[in-house]
Amino acid sequence: MSSIFGSNDQGLSAQRQMKVWAIGGGKGGVGKSLVTANLSICLALMGYKVVSIDLDLGGANLHTCLGVPIPEKTLSDYLTKKVRTLKDLLTPTPIANLSIISGAQDDVGIANLKQMQKAKILSRLHELDADFVLLDLGAGTTFNTLDFFISADQGILTALPEPTSIENTYRFIKSVYHRKLKMVEDLLQVGPLIDQAMNAKISQNFTPSDLVARIIEINPEMGHKLKMEINKLSPKLIINQVRTQADIDIGFSMKIICRKYFGIDLDYVGYLDYDATVWQSVKKRKPLLMEYPNSSLVNNFDRIVHRLLKIT
Ligand SMILES: Nc1ncnc2c1ncn2[C@@H]1O[C@H](COP(=O)(O)OP(=O)(O)O)[C@@H](O)[C@H]1O
Ligand SMILES: [Mg+2]
Repeated sequence: MSSIFGSNDQGLSAQRQMKVWAIGGGKGGVGKSLVTANLSICLALMGYKVVSIDLDLGGANLHTCLGVPIPEKTLSDYLTKKVRTLKDLLTPTPIANLSIISGAQDDVGIANLKQMQKAKILSRLHELDADFVLLDLGAGTTFNTLDFFISADQGILTALPEPTSIENTYRFIKSVYHRKLKMVEDLLQVGPLIDQAMNAKISQNFTPSDLVARIIEINPEMGHKLKMEINKLSPKLIINQVRTQADIDIGFSMKIICRKYFGIDLDYVGYLDYDATVWQSVKKRKPLLMEYPNSSLVNNFDRIVHRLLKIT
């Protein structure tokens, strides 16, 4: 009898549809850890089982945003085989349903993560007993960061309403696009078609979306397949630290530009107000949404998480 129930239990947990959300963005200081921590808290408060993973290897500080001291075990222990499973790295947080896996505290650095190690982490995520796994990707556009972003069910970008951050966000999207194109090129064997389309480019204003249109002209079947794959890229955008309506509107402009230039749908899922409670909570090493329930960010996060859940 126990075996029947045993297998049933296993079946149920295996059936659970775990979702992975990755939070990235061009540079440091734009709110990736803040967003990861507080989206995780929102989901946990809604009753979902959540694991937050700090993949900002080398600059890990997600634990501070979640109000826990530096966890004893980190991803380094997994990568160096000191512990056997990702589950062994789970550290509870003050919030029910929410655990954290901390990034390496040594100099591993995500750029140095070997292809095999990245694949191992990605392929083992499903072993975690969670409804949602959130990845704090850290800054930069290394292949590893891009691959985590592309592999996730939702790739979420955080940007500030200022030129440097906006430029970095486009750079990140461009890198994601190229990385995806490379993957599709290998998968669909359309490398020669891409070369042909690139050779035919006539003006300086040849955009990635023109490239796909040109390939459709050369080979409609392959072109449409390529387009479908590219369409799967639908990054989500959060504008952080907004002070004015003009700041909020930047997200809408970025959406239009992305459609025109890349032919991809950048989904603007919401904004976060500039709010002094953020740095106050960081200073106190307490989770923002728990410590400041009256902060305007509570509503901001609530709207964003509902929007993300709708499209997940
Ligand atoms: N909405 C906000 N309002 C006020 N300050 C913010 C806000 N978002 C982020 N900050 C400040 O920016 C710092 C960096 O945020 P963080 O989430 O650590 O960025 P990242 O993970 O992208 O490097 C925070 O410690 C905080 O002081
Ligand atoms: Mg961070």
